[in-house]
Amino acid sequence: MDRFVKSFIFMSIFYLMTSSLIGVAMLSNNRYLPLKFIHSHLMLLGWVSMMIYGVGYHILPRFAGRTLKSRAVAILQFWTANAGLLGMLGFYLAAYYNPRAGIYRTVSSAFGGLEVFSIALFVYNMLATIYTKAPE
Ligand code: HEM
Repeated sequence: MDRFVKSFIFMSIFYLMTSSLIGVAMLSNNRYLPLKFIHSHLMLLGWVSMMIYGVGYHILPRFAGRTLKSRAVAILQFWTANAGLLGMLGFYLAAYYNPRAGIYRTVSSAFGGLEVFSIALFVYNMLATIYTKAPE
């Protein structure tokens, strides 16, 4: 198994654990409910998506009988997906607690854009792998 595949799976499990604890905190006390955006995105872009990226990179090329188009793009996707997610959520929290400082909302949006870029890298790498000509 490639190292970047293991890294995606490790981070996915890390986000699952962290976000579950945030979920329990929200259940225990309403004052943690503002963390709902953090919880839902750690679950969906962290736990769910990163598990799909890791497993997808490992098995989809094999199912298709191809080799992955680019390992470098996959490694870049790992870093941009994690930086995008953590940056978006960190600055979202900063914006929530400092509503008059618009810069935090802007930086959070920029990290959101980085997250979209990472998704585009996955889309490119998978489509370029699966729809390439079969080896002779
Ligand atoms: C580990 C167990 C979990 C706990 C204790 C938990 C707890 C919570 C709580 C307390 C809320 C806020 C509900 C409210 O608005 O009053 C919430 C929202 C949410 N959770 Fe979880 N959750 C868990 C697992 C998950 C999982 C596995 C996912 C998705 C993969 C998920 C996705 C979401 C989403 C998308 C919302 C926002 C829902 C909305 O705004 O309507 N949660 N969760």
